[in-house]
Amino acid sequence: MGKILVTGGAGYIGTHTSVELLNAGKDIVVLDNFSNSNPQALENVKKITGKDFKFYEGNMIDKNILEKIFSENEIDAVIDFAAYKAVGESVQKPVEYYTNNVSTVLVLLDEMKKHNVKTLVFSSSATVYGDPEVIPITEECKVGGTTNPYGTSKLMVEQILQDLYKSDNDWNIAILRYFNPVGAHESGLIGEDPKGVPANLMPYISKVAAGKLKELSVFGNDYDTKDGTGVRDYIHVVDLAVGHLKALEKLNADKRGMHIYNLGTGTGYSVLDMVKAFETANNIKIPYKIAPRRPGDIATCYSDPKKAKEELGFETKKSLEDMCRDSWNFESNH
Ligand code: UFG
Repeated sequence: MGKILVTGGAGYIGTHTSVELLNAGKDIVVLDNFSNSNPQALENVKKITGKDFKFYEGNMIDKNILEKIFSENEIDAVIDFAAYKAVGESVQKPVEYYTNNVSTVLVLLDEMKKHNVKTLVFSSSATVYGDPEVIPITEECKVGGTTNPYGTSKLMVEQILQDLYKSDNDWNIAILRYFNPVGAHESGLIGEDPKGVPANLMPYISKVAAGKLKELSVFGNDYDTKDGTGVRDYIHVVDLAVGHLKALEKLNADKRGMHIYNLGTGTGYSVLDMVKAFETANNIKIPYKIAPRRPGDIATCYSDPKKAKEELGFETKKSLEDMCRDSWNFESNH
């Protein structure tokens, strides 16, 4: 059995997936340039699992580092997490986003082809659905109408992968469309650690709970939802990580194919639901104020998780309480 290359393996979802892979007895090789992560995260992956793995520091745009990895290791499959992911920032820095999220993948695919490695799990996002035509969102829903370069970059890579598969059916590809990953490993050793003021809801709430930020701004309470605030499908990052293992198992069983899966719970929670759940789970008051809508936001977004359940046997196990408790455990540990 060869190794799995995990690009962006020091990041939020990369570390959690690495833990699950190592715990399942897989051999991994990690590539990261620490652009939004740090070496300690990898040490903590080793601490949690008691297992070691090879690490390469570098950027995926660098053909030479990929060349080195593929020639020094017997790689069977790649899980590609290496990307920028801040929606707001992507509007300010489109060139950086398209370079880091699209150009790098082309370099990776070229190297994979050269070394005859044709199994890939790709991190995509529910953002490719734009403003969804129906809720819950199935994989058959129309994609497109993305409202920022981050979302567009994910859509572009999805298209590239579809074209690649059409050109050569020996490829074996799973595109995973994540909904809203939150929570952290129960050890409190790894989690989401954004640099600067967090843009996403859960890390923001955690910083308010820690007293590092004064109050949460709830972006709009006049949406067409049960309490007027935005509704999303929050998925525990450990469940999400397990989804990657399931996708890899599917690819290994099928040997070839092009598959797309939503990874979500199928349940939507509003911003105020999240505030309440966090308060209850951790017994901490979260002060908040109602603020104007955030440009680019939609009212409701949650998944139909049926396809992943039927084809991958993937079902989320962690509750909203687990998500809130583990997010806070990581924040207060940190
Ligand atoms: N929100 C607030 N206050 C905040 C931050 C967020 O009220 O300080 C609200 C948002 O308006 C939204 C909800 O909380 O209604 C969730 O917002 P996030 O920023 O946490 O997440 P998004 O749903 O906007 O986007 C996230 C990821 C994207 C991914 C998308 C998929 O950031 O990368 O989920 O659904 F594509």
